[in-house]
Amino acid sequence: MITPESAVRTLYFENGSLMLLDQRRLPHDVAYIRCGTSRDVVDAVVKMVVRGAPAIGIAAAYGVVLAVADAFERAGPRWRETAAADIEALRNARPTAVNLGWALDAMVATFADAPDDPRAYVLREATTLQERDLADNIAMGAHGAAFIAPGSGVLTHCNAGALATAGYGTALGVIRSAYTGGCVGQVYATETRPWLQGARLTAWELHEDGIPVMLIADSAAAALMREGKISWVITGADRVAANGDVANKIGTYSLALCARAHGVRFMVAAPCSTIDPATAEGAAIVIEQRDGDELLDFRGTRIAAPGVTAYNPVFDVTPAELIDVLVTEKGAIERPQRDAIAAMLER
Ligand code: MRU
Repeated sequence: MITPESAVRTLYFENGSLMLLDQRRLPHDVAYIRCGTSRDVVDAVVKMVVRGAPAIGIAAAYGVVLAVADAFERAGPRWRETAAADIEALRNARPTAVNLGWALDAMVATFADAPDDPRAYVLREATTLQERDLADNIAMGAHGAAFIAPGSGVLTHCNAGALATAGYGTALGVIRSAYTGGCVGQVYATETRPWLQGARLTAWELHEDGIPVMLIADSAAAALMREGKISWVITGADRVAANGDVANKIGTYSLALCARAHGVRFMVAAPCSTIDPATAEGAAIVIEQRDGDELLDFRGTRIAAPGVTAYNPVFDVTPAELIDVLVTEKGAIERPQRDAIAAMLER
């Protein structure tokens, strides 16, 4: 039986610290690191101890809790001004996932109502964001699963699961829900080079839940589609522009092109906190570039010849016209476009 509780615990706050499951070490080591300051949280986000758009946002909300506690101890009633620099550092930790800035703005908006000693109050607000994300994923799972016919083959990219959220997952929430309803015959997880979120995280998460998952090389996707093994590609998102263009893990765009060429349907599952009305279209989304060593090395061993350089953009943009269904906690939009997305956000 798959329940939100059966999935792995990605992050929790305990004894004044944020505990993060160290995703760099999965699946072989299940180990947590303790963040006692907001600077520790920035470091953990930059180094991808925690990753995935909603999880980054929730970690940042707890980073605000730590920043406020420190500012209150140092500056008493002037804690708001004192915490501002730490909050700015959190905002700059990674550029593409809008949930980071969204969560920080949501936390700062609550400051106006904080009591003289804000510490317990901000912790409650961060906990509320975390609980809401889990509830949103369960709702999203049900909305998305309604599209999946019994016995479907489903392909997912990167990790948009419990590990990337407060639990249950976005794309993997849809897959969990559809599997529970008897509608998923086989899941294919792409390796997701170079960081291997699919091989290390998604395959592990689904296997732990007893959902049939097969790992495939990223480059195998088109061939599987031509063989008729896949009915749906289901991914998460890091930022959905106002017109429906979607930034997600590098390789998502090529999967969407392949899916369209083979009559395979393409679904994006993301909470409304991933939709960014301030970004008009995908071309305006900042794409994170990471160190070329992620490509040139494998687990500390150089693969490429000495002197070879690498280009490593870690997200790409899929145009809205390649997306068949956008699912949020509020419902699903087929062939997402600007007006329908704006109307969904208003609901
Ligand atoms: O670099 P990552 O691992 O943070 O990238 C994660 C993704 O691209 C996910 O698909 C996205 O954040 C959605 S997670 C629910």
